[in-house]
Amino acid sequence: MTDDSGDPADDPLVAAARDAFADAYVPYSEYPVGAALRTADGTVFVGCNIENANYSNSLHAEEVAIAEAVKGGHTEFDRLAVASAAADGVTPCGMCRQTLAEFCDADMEVVCDEGDGVTTYTLGELLPDTISLETLTDAAERRRQR
Ligand code: THU
Ligand code: ZN
Repeated sequence: MTDDSGDPADDPLVAAARDAFADAYVPYSEYPVGAALRTADGTVFVGCNIENANYSNSLHAEEVAIAEAVKGGHTEFDRLAVASAAADGVTPCGMCRQTLAEFCDADMEVVCDEGDGVTTYTLGELLPDTISLETLTDAAERRRQR
């Protein structure tokens, strides 16, 4: 984890996450979140949170960004920025960490906007020891060997 007190707006990925929360649909929480996910080839996909009257169906900004990317054929990512209108250093929730871990390596950078600086984590710091495709294929292999 590293703290950086430069102007977050100078980082194009953070700027994209800030732009993205302008489209958030948040009549319940009134907490707009934006996410910008950069692919290995430098393409950026953005998402915002989209809430629902039943609460449980609410989509998180990171989920929307990764869905856009995967739908477009991208499955390799190297950097994510998240921003909220509160400029409070929002980090991806536990569910989003797991969703990201399906496609992103533990060393992927996750940049969290604090308004007057950023904190950068690796995905592995945010979600150590994640369950993965490998966990399940290893378990299946052990079953076969029994
Ligand atoms: N939210 C996100 O979009 N991403 C996260 O990982 C944290 C939470 C949204 C969900 C809800 O619309 C609002 O923030 C308050 O939890
Ligand atoms: Zn989430």
